[in-house]
Amino acid sequence: MGEKLIDVGKTREIFIPEIINNNKCKIGIEIGVFKGEFSKHLLENWNGKLFLIDPWRPLGDEYNDTSNHIQHLDAYQKPQKILKVLKIEHLC
Ligand SMILES: C[S@@+](CC[C@H](N)C(=O)[O-])C[C@H]1O[C@@H](n2cnc3c(N)ncnc32)[C@H](O)[C@@H]1O
Repeated sequence: MGEKLIDVGKTREIFIPEIINNNKCKIGIEIGVFKGEFSKHLLENWNGKLFLIDPWRPLGDEYNDTSNHIQHLDAYQKPQKILKVLKIEHLC
């Protein structure tokens, strides 16, 4: 039998860094970043290059997510601060 791709008993904070490290991934894209907290976690647990993509603006009523609307007003500021500490230069 082959190895299980994902151990459902592990959180994403554990299994995503495991997968990208075990597969020696060098470049990744996080689509949907919001405040960059998960981006920070990935970069602290993986030595790759991560592109961050998010509209960082309200997406309208059809987008039903707690991260929508008002929180976007400061959401773009936070990843900029986090990534400055991690010496990342650009957000997309
Ligand atoms: C719940 S947050 C997820 C943040 C982060 N990935 C995490 O796991 O903590 C979802 C983010 O996805 C973004 N988003 C929604 N639709 C998107 C799309 N089509 N392309 C890029 N980002 C999108 C929203 O703006 C929001 O910031």
